[in-house]
Amino acid sequence: MKNFYVLTLFPEMIEATLSHSITGRAIREKIINVEAVNIRDFTEDKHRHVDDYPYGGGAGMVMQPQPIYDAYKSIEERAGKCRVLYMSPQGKRFDQKMAEELSGEDSIIFLCGHYEGVDERIIEEIVTDEVSIGDFVLTGGELAAVTIIDTVSRLVPGVLNKEESYENESFSDGLLEYPQYTRPPEFMGRTVPDILLSGHHANIDKWRREQSIVRTYNKRPDLLVKAELTDKDKIFLDRLKEER
Ligand code: ADE
Repeated sequence: MKNFYVLTLFPEMIEATLSHSITGRAIREKIINVEAVNIRDFTEDKHRHVDDYPYGGGAGMVMQPQPIYDAYKSIEERAGKCRVLYMSPQGKRFDQKMAEELSGEDSIIFLCGHYEGVDERIIEEIVTDEVSIGDFVLTGGELAAVTIIDTVSRLVPGVLNKEESYENESFSDGLLEYPQYTRPPEFMGRTVPDILLSGHHANIDKWRREQSIVRTYNKRPDLLVKAELTDKDKIFLDRLKEER
C-alpha cells in the first residue's frame, strides 16, 4: 500500500477531492491510503492560531513552524522517515517523469502552505523537495497536493483496471493521444473515420499511431524532441513536415 500524508489547514479539500472516482475506489480497496492531518490540531496557542505577522513587516500572515513540526512528527512516528514535498510555485516543476519517480516511494508527506507561506525554518528542517505544479499562484498548496496524489496514484499497480490501463495514453511514449469516437456513427453531420469501422486492427493501429504524431506535431511540437519514435514514425513525421 502506498501512503500519502497531507499536512494542511483544510483537510476537507483533500478528502472531498480524492474520495471520488478512481482514487476513491483505490482508497476503499486499500491500494492507496490518503491521510490529511490538520495542522491546527497541533497548535499550542490558546486561540488555536497557527499563523502570525511576518518579522520585518509586510502584508499577510506566515504559518508558524511549531504546529507544522508537531503535525509532521505525528506522521513520522507511524510512517518513518520519508520524503516531504512542500507545495510552492518556487519548486521544481511537476511532470509525468517526476510522477513516475515518486510512484517508487512507499510513503510521501505533502506540506501545504496558506497565507503568505510558511516560516522558512520549517522548510529547512523537514522539507526534502519543493514542488510546483505550474507557473501560476494558487491560494494554497492543497490543489497542488491533490493533483500530484492523483497523478502518482494511477501509476500504482492495481489502481487502474484493464479498461483504464495506461498503455496508450498521452505522454507514456511522449506523444499525445489519438482521437476517440463512440456511438452514434454520425453526429451533427459528422461521421466517424471509416477505418475505425473497418475491423482491420493492423490498419487501425497504424492510423492511430499516425494521428498521435499529427496531433503532437500540431498541438505540442515541443514534445516531439523527446518522444520515442520508431523509424516508421520518423518517416511519417518527415512527410508531414514536408506537406506543411
Ligand atoms: N502553491 C501556490 N501555488 C502553487 C503552485 N503553482 N504549485 C504548487 N504549490 C503552490
